[in-house]
Amino acid sequence: MKKRIFSGAQPTGQLHIGNYLGALKNWVALQEEYEAFYCIVNLHAITLPQAPATLKKATLDLARIYLAAGIDPERSTIFIQSDVPEHAELTWVLSCISRMGELERMTQFKDKGKGNTERAGVGLFTYPVLMASDILLYQTDLVPVGQDQKQHLELTRDLAERFNRDFGETFKVPEPYIPKIGASIKSLQDPEKKMSKSDENLNGSIFLLDDPDTITKKIKRAVTDSGTTVEFDETRPAISNLLTIFQLTTDRSPEECVAHFEGKGYGHFKTELAEVVVEFLRPFQERVRQYDDESLRSILSSGAEKARSIASETLRAVYSKTGIA
Ligand code: TYM
Repeated sequence: MKKRIFSGAQPTGQLHIGNYLGALKNWVALQEEYEAFYCIVNLHAITLPQAPATLKKATLDLARIYLAAGIDPERSTIFIQSDVPEHAELTWVLSCISRMGELERMTQFKDKGKGNTERAGVGLFTYPVLMASDILLYQTDLVPVGQDQKQHLELTRDLAERFNRDFGETFKVPEPYIPKIGASIKSLQDPEKKMSKSDENLNGSIFLLDDPDTITKKIKRAVTDSGTTVEFDETRPAISNLLTIFQLTTDRSPEECVAHFEGKGYGHFKTELAEVVVEFLRPFQERVRQYDDESLRSILSSGAEKARSIASETLRAVYSKTGIA
């Protein structure tokens, strides 16, 4: 039997090259070897206010992006979180064994709640419990994510172990899969911050659907550190970040990248990086346009059916062990 992977992304804002290099790229690679479930987490999206019509459209658009990135619906299951009500049901049970203290420690809650926990939504607070439910419902072995989700994965493991200890073996305890390179692509405008869908400064992110002109402008405007050589250097996070993007979009080793730019300055490097990123995204952008809404709906509906058959079995076991049913 193949091992199983589960991952997901929120249908909020536009996906950027950080989402692609940190997560989607690995989802595509791993679907060869694993039985994969890729979810569009629309229930997570409403933890911050969303315009209903925008959310609806973004949900279908994210399916388009999964497919264009190379997720094969014949092999992997693509579905919308809210189509499988077991996600919300298991969240309730797991929230009853979660502790306030452990959720208060989640850095993403502090970041997204902007430090004002009195005003933050309760959904934002319990968000990681919904994420744990997503993963645990599928008896997942491996969860490919970027660095920013690591803490949520640790909580997921803790909740699985706690439930298993208190009610008997029920959940598989999943392992995170965080790539060594690209797990935290930084903002082009501030290399101390991760590239983020919710960044108000749009120049910080290269969106997967940006046109060539916009990509080129953003790369040319990217901040650089002092120094002139094009090298990986921990003390120069801006150039290291740009070089990481170059490395992952050209599939070269770090040594090859450095050798390639030896004796060349930032100007030359940025011009070449812009060309590489434009060409890298071009076939993806062409594929995005190929999927009509009707075929997407059909893929998502068979995905939900398959997902539900597994999720309902896990929830049945949970209800039986807890004395609910
Ligand atoms: P989301 O939608 O914020 O991001 C989707 C994926 O992209 C990764 N990522 C990055 N990787 C590298 N560099 C960056 N700058 C960068 N920004 C984002 C994220 O780590 C993520 O893997 N809570 C999740 C969605 C989720 C989920 C799950 C994931 C819900 N349930 C179950 C895995 C398993 C989120 O908000 O991802």
